[in-house]
Amino acid sequence: MLGSEEGLVGVSRIDLKVGGSVGGKRGSTGFLGCDFWLGGEVVVLMVVVDGGASGMGGCWCGFIEINSLTYTIHVPTLHLGSTCEAIVCTLGAARDRALSSFGEEKITKLVVYASDQTHSCVEKAAKRVGIPPRNFQVLATTSNTDFAMSPKTLREAMDADTAQELVPLYVCATIGTTPSGAVDPVNELGHVTSASGAWLHVDAAYAGSACICPEYRHYLDGVELANSVSMNPHKWLLTNMDCTCLWLKNPTTLVECLSSKPEYLRNKASESGNVVDYKDWQISLSRRFRTLKLWIVLRQYGSDYLMCHIRNGIELAEYLESLIYKNDKFELLVPRKFSLVCFRLKPQNGEDGVETNARNLKLLEALNSSGQAYMTHAVIGGAFAIRCAIGGVLTQIKSGILMSSRC
Ligand SMILES: Cc1ncc(COP(=O)(O)O)c(C=O)c1O
Repeated sequence: MLGSEEGLVGVSRIDLKVGGSVGGKRGSTGFLGCDFWLGGEVVVLMVVVDGGASGMGGCWCGFIEINSLTYTIHVPTLHLGSTCEAIVCTLGAARDRALSSFGEEKITKLVVYASDQTHSCVEKAAKRVGIPPRNFQVLATTSNTDFAMSPKTLREAMDADTAQELVPLYVCATIGTTPSGAVDPVNELGHVTSASGAWLHVDAAYAGSACICPEYRHYLDGVELANSVSMNPHKWLLTNMDCTCLWLKNPTTLVECLSSKPEYLRNKASESGNVVDYKDWQISLSRRFRTLKLWIVLRQYGSDYLMCHIRNGIELAEYLESLIYKNDKFELLVPRKFSLVCFRLKPQNGEDGVETNARNLKLLEALNSSGQAYMTHAVIGGAFAIRCAIGGVLTQIKSGILMSSRC
């Protein structure tokens, strides 16, 4: 059923021969992917092409049908339960790689970089893998960059840390941050990170799904510089909880970090070295068959429907945005990129920030207690933002009102 030799247990790692070029980058070797054989076709959710010395690296993401066989891609992909797991595993791998180069006593010198918009799971993971809390560097973002992480700020922070004999370890760039949907500039951050020798992880938990559509793929530019990338089909790609894809540039570091060889798990196959032991790619020993779930989603809906689902969510968000623009009482707090709209009631004359925030909280509570809508909140640049995240198949416009068809 799944043509990938390893796909049945949740990792797709195939030598894929693809007709023609991938994203116009013919002749390069891809290193990241999520691939399923569907009958005679291969569906590729994401392929990152590493052009090596040719400098022709780039990213291709979406769905392809394989016709002629001219192109070889190695795609180590893992299906985990959550981004939190992906971050703990990759951060652990980065830590072990650094400690083997610099010596175990340097654990107190390793620094993890995130922005003030990065998901809290990175800070949690840093603590869990033994990074001292003082070495978790939160880089401030501003409205000047639409709350994206600034490569200049990252470089300055790394330079200052290096001057104090600290070691840059891990940078988490996000495509579609949780509070506001901001997109960190992966390409520029990738260059700063590579120069420092740190590990770059791209967290595309939410907005990675949008990148199946050609018009949103540019947000992945530079992703070939990343060591790892994760995205959650369970967020916006019609897949039931839980399913996170983790792509790795070089799984060896991760496997060295996570492998164990107890006697009771040894057998001829494991000793032969000819099989992949997925326990060595994740924290737990047992694993759910997430690949099948994702495969069924891709198989059942097909690429056109999935792209239509993403575009529909974004169109509905644009509609809400247009209503906010037309209404004097409301304002958008950040430019919308995907299907997340962050807005608030505008400050009234003579009102201070605390009062405006309190009025918006009251509105959010009223909205949610109505049972007609469910929205969440974030604080962006000190302002309380109401977050309307559209992603369900039942959301639609009825008589000019954005609602779930169940209402
Ligand atoms: C950008 C981002 N990263 C990470 C996470 C955490 O995802 P998970 O629940 O899969 O660990 C979220 C969840 O909202 C998210 O939006």
